[in-house]
Amino acid sequence: MSVYPHGDLTTLDRALREPGPCLVVTDTVFSMDGDAVAVDELVDLCDHHGALLVLDEAHSVLGPEPSRVPDHVVRVGTLSKTLGALGGFAAGSADVVELLINRARPFIFTTAPTPADTAAAAAALSIVRSDEGDALRERLRRHVEHVRPGHPSPIIPVILGSEQAALDASESLLDEGLLVPAIRPPTVPPGTSRLRVALSAAHTDEQVARLCSALDHLPEQHHVSS
Ligand SMILES: Cc1ncc(COP(=O)(O)O)c(C=O)c1O
Repeated sequence: MSVYPHGDLTTLDRALREPGPCLVVTDTVFSMDGDAVAVDELVDLCDHHGALLVLDEAHSVLGPEPSRVPDHVVRVGTLSKTLGALGGFAAGSADVVELLINRARPFIFTTAPTPADTAAAAAALSIVRSDEGDALRERLRRHVEHVRPGHPSPIIPVILGSEQAALDASESLLDEGLLVPAIRPPTVPPGTSRLRVALSAAHTDEQVARLCSALDHLPEQHHVSS
């Protein structure tokens, strides 16, 4: 197994040139940086090398969406974030699904989702697919643009460097009624401790404006760019 820097398709291409079968596993939106993979290029690259590709789309409420999903792609998602329920899913070709049903130990030995969680997820899914879902995503996009123009996801890191700086900033935001967790090593590399802003369509414009103003007023040493 080898780990390539996330989203770095040049390094991945080099790794895929090694002989032998390959399975590539990646987030489509990375959980601590909130950046997005170039998903179509990744699908093409895995196609080219005959590699199986697993896309974890847990954080991809605003995309990126692969424009084509060939048989060598498995899409994995959770029902616990955007959909506000519990559980998850893996979607792929019939062969892959058959393999997972019969061989995936965490699946085989896990109790089935409860009827209540399943109903909640199904109801949320029908909203996601509706005009209301479009409006919620549009609203979320506006919130993201407000906090960090051009950023691809609602996970917005504010990198502060030291663990103490991140903890202090998180605590001062909490004093203002804003819950923005401090993320420290080993979750992120040493020296990149940060605030992790997670926006939701349920946030009001006033809350997002208050967040922006609070981030602007963090002490000077907190203004290290991401
Ligand atoms: C990238 C990613 N995939 C999957 C999951 C798993 O989601 P769940 O907690 O619903 O099992 C998480 C949870 O945070 C995640 O960050």
